[in-house]
Parts: sequence; C-alpha cells; structure tokens
Amino acid sequence: MNVINMVQMLEFEQKGDERGHLVIVEGMTDIPFDIKRVFYIYGSDKDVIRGQHANINSEFILINVSGSSKVRVDDGKGNEAIYSLNRPHTGIYLPKMIWKDMYDFSSDSILLCLASTHYDGSEYIRNYDEFIKIVNGDK
Ligand code: TYD
Repeated sequence: MNVINMVQMLEFEQKGDERGHLVIVEGMTDIPFDIKRVFYIYGSDKDVIRGQHANINSEFILINVSGSSKVRVDDGKGNEAIYSLNRPHTGIYLPKMIWKDMYDFSSDSILLCLASTHYDGSEYIRNYDEFIKIVNGDK
C-alpha cells in the first residue's frame, strides 16, 4: 500500500462525565504501535513550519490536545494531503517514510506527539531531495 494511504485520522475514546473529559490512547489498542516516546510542541508562531522531515523507522500519532494546527504529508511520489488537527480526542497516524510539515499553529496549540521509537537523530531524513531519491529508489 502507498504510505500516504496509511495516514489516517483516529478518534479516541472519550470518558466524559460531570467532572470533565478523559481521553484514552493505549498502545497497540487504540493506535497501531507501542508508545516508546512522548513529546509535545507549543509556543510555535502561526508562520512557523515544523517537522520538515521523514523518519526511516518511526511512526507517530499527533494530537492537538489544545488549540489547532495543520499537518501536510507528502509521499515523495507526487501525492500530498493536508489534515487539520483541532480536537483533543482526534489524532493523526503517520507511518514511516512520509514527509511531514506541521504549521498554522494557533496561539494555544499544544501538539502532543506519540512515537513508536526512542529518539535516534540518524533515522531522520531532513533533506527533501534526499527523501525524494530514497523513496524513488535512486539512492
Ligand atoms: P525537531 O525534530 O526539529 O522538531 P520538530 O520535528 O517537532 O519540528 O527537534 C528539535 C530538537 O529536539 C532537535 O535538536 C532534536 C531534538 N529532539 C530530541 O532530542 N528528541 C526528540 O524526541 C525529538 C522529537 C527532538
């Protein structure tokens, strides 16, 4: 399957009651991997573009637990898609080997990221031309 077709929005279970909301994201149950790493991004201005990389080994779930942002995904083969993240119980699944840009952050945006791997900077492809070559088998 083309990796861009593996990108999908996921709705997480909400256990709301009179005390407020509680959203559950359990590894291998609600998302297709075990969670090895959690990080979150906030305080990014509206005109900032983050991400701008692909990962050889890592899969991610991104959830705007507060505010909103957009994610652009690109498979390096001419296919791209844009998703809006704006609800704390909705996430996007990003498979390995997809180029991603996160942008259009609201001032209250807190973008929670769940990763399938521990951090390894060497599995990040940060050069777009290199990514294109790898996915098209030129490298
Ligand atoms: P970067 O990958 O540029 O962030 P983003 O993709 O969200 O725009 O990461 C910023 C810095 O943080 C960079 O020096 C790498 C470091 N970093 C870690 O040490 N561990 C991590 O898990 C992540 C995501 C980044």
